[in-house]
Amino acid sequence: MLKIAPSILSCDFANLEAEVSAMQRAGADMIHVDVMDGHFVPNLSLGLPVVASLRRKTDAFLDVHLMISSPLSYAEKFVEAGADLVTFHVESESDIQQTIDAIRQTGKRCGLSVKPDTPAEVVFPYLEQIDLVLVMTVEPGFGGQKFRPELCPKIRAIRQEIDRRGLSVDLEVDGGIDNQTISQAAQAGANVFVAGSALFSQPDYREAVEKLRTHAQGSSYIG
Ligand code: DX5
Ligand code: ZN
Repeated sequence: MLKIAPSILSCDFANLEAEVSAMQRAGADMIHVDVMDGHFVPNLSLGLPVVASLRRKTDAFLDVHLMISSPLSYAEKFVEAGADLVTFHVESESDIQQTIDAIRQTGKRCGLSVKPDTPAEVVFPYLEQIDLVLVMTVEPGFGGQKFRPELCPKIRAIRQEIDRRGLSVDLEVDGGIDNQTISQAAQAGANVFVAGSALFSQPDYREAVEKLRTHAQGSSYIG
């Protein structure tokens, strides 16, 4: 299923509740929450209290993307705060298997993310245990960067492996997704599309979400 996930990194944080509910009304399928620790990536964003406050104000599905060095220490806390899906990076310092186990024990969904220079094969051993693979199509840390089309073969390789094993794992792309680049990512096999600046910069969120969806739908993956 095709899903559009607005990234609140580009929203007006002084009006977080209004921004999230506007995106929900606009047809967003989930809300992407970027957590950065100033160590795993050279930027700080938001943490547990913001997720907990948001949870009290919305029933939106919260797709939490941890760009932090020690996801094992925090994954459960993000679930307690209200995350519906916790995605962490294979390049972090935490043990991958232990972190997957910690998230799965909560009963919530688990995702694995790879930075642009990390090969697709790193996630293959875990595909049966996870709900989502997140392929970064920019170097993580900042919104508003340019999509890297050379990563499409990696997206395709992961999609092929998911399909070959008959799994229903979602394949999410994050970074530089707009009305043009979403077509390339969809053709390569992605089905969940994070968009920050391309959505929150628009005056009409509904029109912006619909446009993205239409472009993705018009570019389906052929295996
Ligand atoms: C970047 C974050 C992204 C970011 C995407 O490290 O993971 O989710 O918000 O922003 P855009 O869509 O503007 O590239
Ligand atoms: Zn993200």
